[in-house]
Amino acid sequence: MEASLTARDRVGIQDFVLLDAYTSETAFLDNLRKRFHENLIYTYIGTLLVSLNPYKELDIYSKKQMDTYMGVNFFELPPHIYALADNVFRTMMSEFNNHFILISGESGAGKTEACKKILHFYAVSCPSTKILNNVRDRLLLSNPVLEAFGNAKTLKNDNSSRFGKYMDIQFDHQGGAVGGHILSYLLEKSRVVHQNHGERNFHIFYQLVDGGDEDLLRWLGLRRDCQHYNYLVQGDCAKVSSVNDRSDWRTVRKALSVVDFSESDVEHLFGIVASVLHLGNLKFEADTRGYAALHNSQEMHWLSKVRRETKTHSFLAGRIINTCNGVFVLQLLGIPAQVLQQGLTHRKIEAKTEEVFSPFSVDHAVYARDALAKAVYGRTFNWLVNKINESLANVDSSRKTVIGLLDIYGFEVFTVNSFEQFCINYCNEKLQQLFIQLTLKSEQAEYEMEGVEWEPVPYFNNKIICDLVEEKHRGIISLLDEECLRPGEATDFTLLEKMEEIIGGHPHFVTHKLADQKTRKSLARGDFRLLHYAGEVTYSVVGFLDKNNDLLYRNGKEVMQQSKNLIIKHCFPPSEPDQKKRPETVVTQFKSSLVGLIEILGTKEPWYVRCIKPNEAKEPGRFDDVLVRHQVKYLGLMEHLRVRRAGFAYRRKYEIFLQRYKPLCPDTWPNWKGTAAEGVQVLIKHLGYQPDEYKMGRTKIFIRHPRTLFATEDAFQVCKHKLATKIQAKYKGYRVKGDYQKQKEAATKIENCWRGLMARKEREKREWAVAIIKRFIKGFMTRNEPSGADNREYLSYVRHSYLTRLRENLPKTLLHKDLWLTPPPILKETSLFLKQLFIRHMVRKYVQGITEERKALLLLKVQTSFMFKGKKESYPLSVRTPFLDTRIGIGDMNMKALRMIKHENVKYSVPVVKYDRNGFRPRPRQLVFTRDAAYLLDEAKIKQRIRYGSLKGVSVSNLSDNFLILHVTCDDVKQKGDLVLECDFLFEALTKLSAIVDKCDFIQVVQDSVRFDIQPGREGVVDFRSGQESVVYRAKNGHLTVKSTSTKSR
Ligand SMILES: Nc1ncnc2c1ncn2[C@@H]1O[C@H](COP(=O)(O)OP(=O)(O)O)[C@@H](O)[C@H]1O
Ligand SMILES: [Mg+2]
Repeated sequence: MEASLTARDRVGIQDFVLLDAYTSETAFLDNLRKRFHENLIYTYIGTLLVSLNPYKELDIYSKKQMDTYMGVNFFELPPHIYALADNVFRTMMSEFNNHFILISGESGAGKTEACKKILHFYAVSCPSTKILNNVRDRLLLSNPVLEAFGNAKTLKNDNSSRFGKYMDIQFDHQGGAVGGHILSYLLEKSRVVHQNHGERNFHIFYQLVDGGDEDLLRWLGLRRDCQHYNYLVQGDCAKVSSVNDRSDWRTVRKALSVVDFSESDVEHLFGIVASVLHLGNLKFEADTRGYAALHNSQEMHWLSKVRRETKTHSFLAGRIINTCNGVFVLQLLGIPAQVLQQGLTHRKIEAKTEEVFSPFSVDHAVYARDALAKAVYGRTFNWLVNKINESLANVDSSRKTVIGLLDIYGFEVFTVNSFEQFCINYCNEKLQQLFIQLTLKSEQAEYEMEGVEWEPVPYFNNKIICDLVEEKHRGIISLLDEECLRPGEATDFTLLEKMEEIIGGHPHFVTHKLADQKTRKSLARGDFRLLHYAGEVTYSVVGFLDKNNDLLYRNGKEVMQQSKNLIIKHCFPPSEPDQKKRPETVVTQFKSSLVGLIEILGTKEPWYVRCIKPNEAKEPGRFDDVLVRHQVKYLGLMEHLRVRRAGFAYRRKYEIFLQRYKPLCPDTWPNWKGTAAEGVQVLIKHLGYQPDEYKMGRTKIFIRHPRTLFATEDAFQVCKHKLATKIQAKYKGYRVKGDYQKQKEAATKIENCWRGLMARKEREKREWAVAIIKRFIKGFMTRNEPSGADNREYLSYVRHSYLTRLRENLPKTLLHKDLWLTPPPILKETSLFLKQLFIRHMVRKYVQGITEERKALLLLKVQTSFMFKGKKESYPLSVRTPFLDTRIGIGDMNMKALRMIKHENVKYSVPVVKYDRNGFRPRPRQLVFTRDAAYLLDEAKIKQRIRYGSLKGVSVSNLSDNFLILHVTCDDVKQKGDLVLECDFLFEALTKLSAIVDKCDFIQVVQDSVRFDIQPGREGVVDFRSGQESVVYRAKNGHLTVKSTSTKSR
């Protein structure tokens, strides 16, 4: 930030605390002057802002400037009223407490402007929503309304506040301006009826006459000419170049509608303003008896008339408005002329039973008129403030923090000073007391109390003047009240005498009589002089009693109660407190309200803006050394600086300091176990505070330079975000964990339910299974009993199961029919039946699927079986071997031999071994069956031809050999005898042979041995034996022995 400062900003010293010659008033002034000439009107003394009135518009209040100052540490940018405003706001937000900004300085020093600037800054910088903007607009626009009615041109200031104003701005916890409240203090009512030369009445009168619509003026019976009105011409300066009444009028008109004034309110309000002007023009003349008589029928006409118009034309807006019955009603005062006239020229005296009206002298009547005008205006002003407060009121009851702005009339010294100046200056004395209390006195007392080493700074305590004014029984206020209230002829001069008597010796009080020779010259006889903290003021005692009494004759009030004007009606209620009891005097009321104000301020943190007026001529660029020096002096700025310099910019109770900054040190975060003071010690050691930067008091830490604190605060801001993130993360974690836990519990619950459900299902299943198994076992156990409840199911299951299995395990062929599944006992019969059925079915299927050739072949096999089954041992083995048509193809036979027998049609041929008849030597031969005979061939030779007619039979053994003996009929010796052959296809050959010869009984199965004819008459024997191995040999007995192995042992 430092870098962004321009050279101009660095002129002089921005903070007087940094001034080397800090005790030198001249150095102080030099710095102010130097900066003033560079238009640097703001300078700090620590956190106090000194502001010089530039008397010209400076380009330092733009939105851009506001943005620059928003949220930036106080000392980082050039001094500015915005920096102070921002600092107050941020302190309020962080510490959540109430604050006030005391703006002081003499009249015209720039207090009201400063106040407006602060308000503007908040309006722009605070959070904005539709509702908040509404409040903001009202806060801002309440100002021009109050200024119109409460400010006036004085010799000191063209826009001098003639009332004190304390305004609370209420903020919610987010920093939004949510409401406000205004307290007003003692309006200078006398201005309504009298202005000194060079001064004006309240702005509103000129604004109305100058800016009001033609229509409006006509309705109000006003002329557009201020000179026409007695109440506006006394100062002889109705027109002021610095004030634009016409444009101000427009602003006020607009503001009134924003601040919630209804059309009717506004009409009545201006009715009153006009009434006051009319009242001022009332002229009384002495009648013959010297009593006051009223002649201005014109004014009376306006004041008293209730104007009813059928035209519905709003004089305010210059437009047609709808009113009830189409009658437009306007009241100025709306009091019957008779009543008003009576009220202004007579005084009602209540004798025991009757009321007597005593006529006024002209002077009295004028006095009564003015009193009425002041009362009307004064009460209307209070009504106005209340009305504005209603519109600013915050309806939300949640706790708010507040920043108060105190802009009260400044110290005033005119050539002639009266009761008003006395009150105003007394008020300034009180505020100076407060300032001293809060800064100089309490600050030094605090160091002492805290045991911090300290060299006291002397300062002027204006308590002595406050006491002079307000002390009970002895103070000027008491004496004044006493004079007002005491019976007998009390006058302003008896008051003066009383004062001289009682407080004559007071060092701050002097009168013409008490003064020394020299001073006496400057004092008139009716003057008294007070030596205020801000300088001497000579007051003219004339009018003190009157103004303090503020008497509105009783029938004056009664007259007003008859008004038709709603505001007046409201301001003069019929039930006014006991009219006989004297109301409190003005100064006492004022004193009480100041006590109230000091109480309000006492509960808040103070901030100060000290306004200084650079010259009396309201001229820009002129720095009047004497004038400024005087203000610097009486505002106590030098003392303040000295205390600041010697003291500590910042102090906080250990607990509060530790609480705020403990996150900055690991030892103190999150909790410090020891005492707060020890904690702070540890903390600042960690932060590296140098010994001269701080002091440890009894209950507080004192930090010398703001920069030390700012560095700490900056560190805290950084740390805060980190902590916030951490806490946020922890919290989020905690929440997520919670969620997770919940989900987990939910999941477990669901799981449990699901498992329970599944388990229950499983149990049901098992129960069901157990029942089934039980039934099954029972069924099994009673399976052989007749079908009943116990075994019905089981049996049906067995049946079903057997039948199903059977279906899948049926024999594939008929040959496997014995592989039939063994049935359970109950199905034995069924099984048998089914087996038969199945076999029949298979047979049928087989038979249907068989070919003619195969059938023939099988028939042959049947024949073989017929011939050999159960007779020859090797038969079963042959069954499997299918028969062929022949075992020797035509191609394998000798062509020559074939040619010889071809004509007989060869039916079957097979290789054989022939055993010689003599010696039984084996010879391989071919045996061929033709249609007519069997041939034994040896290559091309026909070794033997046996006609079937000569074939007596064929012998085979019952064993497993392959021998066959063909027995032939031998008639001739030359003829060859029986044939002994061995044939591997014995069954096939013999079956074929039997088919060819169409006989089957010619085959004889023999046991042990067989005889055969070697030649006719010569026999041979073949013995068949079973043995270990198959052998054929000629035995010693000459028999051919054929040993064959038993098929059973194979
Ligand atoms: N900051 C400022 N910038 C410009 N002009 C200012 C400033 N402060 C005060 N003035 C001028 O001085 C006049 C008097 O200021 P004002 O605030 O009314 O004084 P006070 O309230 O102290 O009597 C204003 O009308 C305005 O012209
Ligand atoms: Mg002011």
